[in-house]
Amino acid sequence: LLMHTFVLTLPFGCLTLILKRGVRDEPPLIQGWLPFVGKALEFRRDAHGFLKQQKKKFGDVFTVRIAGRFMTFIMDPLSYPTIIKQGRQLDFHAFSDKMASVVFGYTPIRDMCLPGFRDDIFRSFKLLHGDNLAPLTESMMANLMLVFRQDHLSERLREGATFLTLYGRTQDAGRHSGMDSLREDLVKFDKRFPLLTANVPIGLLREAKTSREKLISYFLPHRMSCWSNMSQFIRRRQELLNHDSVMTDMDKAAHHFAMLWASVANTIPTCFWALYHLLSQPEALQAVQQEVHDILNLSKVEFSSDRDVVLSREQLDKLLYLGTAINESLRLSSASMNIRVAQEDFSLRLDGERSVGVRKDDIVILYPQSLHMDPEIYDQPQTFRFDRFVQDGMEKTDFYKDGQKLKYYLMPFGSGASMCPGRHFAINEIKQFLCLLLLYFKLELEEGQARATLDPSRAGLGILSPSTDVRFRYRLRAI
Ligand code: HEM
Ligand SMILES: *[C@@H]1O[C@H](CO)[C@@H](O)[C@H](O)[C@H]1NC(C)=O
Ligand SMILES: *[C@@H]1O[C@H](CO)[C@@H](O)[C@H](O)[C@H]1NC(C)=O
Ligand SMILES: *[C@@H]1O[C@H](CO)[C@@H](O)[C@H](O)[C@H]1NC(C)=O
Repeated sequence: LLMHTFVLTLPFGCLTLILKRGVRDEPPLIQGWLPFVGKALEFRRDAHGFLKQQKKKFGDVFTVRIAGRFMTFIMDPLSYPTIIKQGRQLDFHAFSDKMASVVFGYTPIRDMCLPGFRDDIFRSFKLLHGDNLAPLTESMMANLMLVFRQDHLSERLREGATFLTLYGRTQDAGRHSGMDSLREDLVKFDKRFPLLTANVPIGLLREAKTSREKLISYFLPHRMSCWSNMSQFIRRRQELLNHDSVMTDMDKAAHHFAMLWASVANTIPTCFWALYHLLSQPEALQAVQQEVHDILNLSKVEFSSDRDVVLSREQLDKLLYLGTAINESLRLSSASMNIRVAQEDFSLRLDGERSVGVRKDDIVILYPQSLHMDPEIYDQPQTFRFDRFVQDGMEKTDFYKDGQKLKYYLMPFGSGASMCPGRHFAINEIKQFLCLLLLYFKLELEEGQARATLDPSRAGLGILSPSTDVRFRYRLRAI
């Protein structure tokens, strides 16, 4: 302990010495070779491997100095419920507000005098689930049909349905011209997303800077005021952003752009992985296709018919095999971090008996990938088993560690206060997209390709992409 105190105190001087009082039982501190960069480089290269190695050496709880900040990792999933409950001392919003404001280019909410704004925004998330999910799901279905119909002839599949469902119809000349450039800019921006979250100034990333400016200006109030059929969720956000005059038009637009990013950035790679895994395993594909036909009570679908396929929320809920295949894809590709900032020096409870000392402003992190890849919880964790979350025709929810049933075993959507508010909508739209794809197209992976692997550059930030492009072959069924 003395040794750690010494090392910790050095960079901060007397201030830290004073704060230090009263903080006992601090977890082991892992220092990097380079005092400033700390372990950041090693972490970036292979976060999962790095943490696994540290856990072996130091146990379930340890602190790593990354890019100048002290980050305490909690590796035992049995402690998760207790940690998640300590929301009062462990704040989420300060960190995410700061990071998002840097990445998406708006003034941090905290720096503006907007009492109650954060709570109102939080309440507006209700418009994404519960009873509000039905109209969203219905609208998404119609938009997917629209996109499928318009695009299959040009032999390009476009992802525009989520945008149409949330933001509605823009008045641009046709859907395509505007949507294409929006997509291109989003791709360019997203490519640099990891660097932006690492605080690399956007001025150094010329392409990302230009595309971010274009993306933000796309959502300027005078443009959005001409859009029609906007979802209730986005309309509510507009109201909230307009409510106080302190916010500039650019800030408002940047908030809308941030929301667009949140609504597609993880959904798209999830669709990719689910499709990829299904096409890699004939028995999985067969089970899912059978289930989709059964639910729709169809033997054959003809794309040429004018009738749209309709999948209601209830029907989507019944798609058990598709659901488990998507969850299994999320388990294998999700690498998000749950980040909390300590609001005071306190003793962080881990479970009934154990606790560790944490200081104000320290970061406490849950890293669910290590839970998702734990061979004790998931047998052969690297293998895609499409029915891993099904047992006896029902959803399987019992997974164990050290003989104890886990409350949290699958966490691609975060936890507690920062749990993704779009998760139900996300699962539904992924199901809808995959259903239509499987119904209308005969798809296969092009032969002779190496197996897709995860690109680690987004470790900590969400669903990982494949490290190289994967080629699919597809043609319309029965036309
Ligand atoms: C597979 C798809 C998705 C995944 C894996 C995902 C994952 C996540 C995660 C892990 C967080 C929490 C971040 C944290 O704890 O720091 C989050 C937050 C958020 N997500 Fe999602 N998400 C998905 C889809 C969506 C969709 C479709 C929407 C909107 C329609 C959405 C809207 C949001 C919003 C607004 C937040 C911020 C919540 C807050 O500030 O409290 N997400 N998402
Ligand atoms: C707008 O939404 C209404 C119902 O919500 C629908 O009837 C109408 O067709 C939609 N208009 C367009 C252009 O999508
Ligand atoms: C499925 O279709 C068959 C024959 O077309 C019909 O008899 C049956 O009632 C349908 N089942 C459901 C659940 O709609
Ligand atoms: C998949 O995971 C979500 C939560 O992430 C859960 O609500 C759903 O019931 C799961 N479905 C299956 C079939 O495991």
